[in-house]
Amino acid sequence: MRCFAGVAFWLAVLPPVAFATPVDLAAAEAQFKKSCGTCHVAAPEAGPRQGPNLFGVIGRAAGKVESFKYSPAFVVGGSGLVWDEATLDQWLADPQSVIPGSVMLYKQADPDKRRLVIEYLKTRR
Ligand code: HEC
Repeated sequence: MRCFAGVAFWLAVLPPVAFATPVDLAAAEAQFKKSCGTCHVAAPEAGPRQGPNLFGVIGRAAGKVESFKYSPAFVVGGSGLVWDEATLDQWLADPQSVIPGSVMLYKQADPDKRRLVIEYLKTRR
């Protein structure tokens, strides 16, 4: 009985502890490939697909991949915008709310999936 009480105690305290653990990077990479991989790579020296290469995107100003032809709206609306966790999160939830007229055809309503993708991009720089 004593032992059982011990287990019950740990089960009771574990959820908040588990919540604070770092994200599963394998899951983060899988989420990126699934959600973004059709249109983006995030690798040094790789060329663009339908969208620009996202290697090093966190901390970079918007619209700065030389080899990619951004939409005109992007060039105007992206000026002064720097990609960080907050701007990326909003972009992935609704790109056109960040840069009206931009042409990325993707939206992710699930904050956990957006977080996974952002965590993956943090490792790609
Ligand atoms: C259907 C294709 C498509 C998908 C899927 C897609 N994107 Fe994009 N993305 C684009 C295009 C096209 C642009 C350029 C938009 C423009 O020029 O208006 C872009 C632009 C971006 C930019 C701006 C980059 C820069 O250099 O400023 C970021 C950041 C980005 N996408 C992240 C993502 C992430 C992360 C995912 C997955 C969660 C994703 N995108 C899914 C097509 C896509």
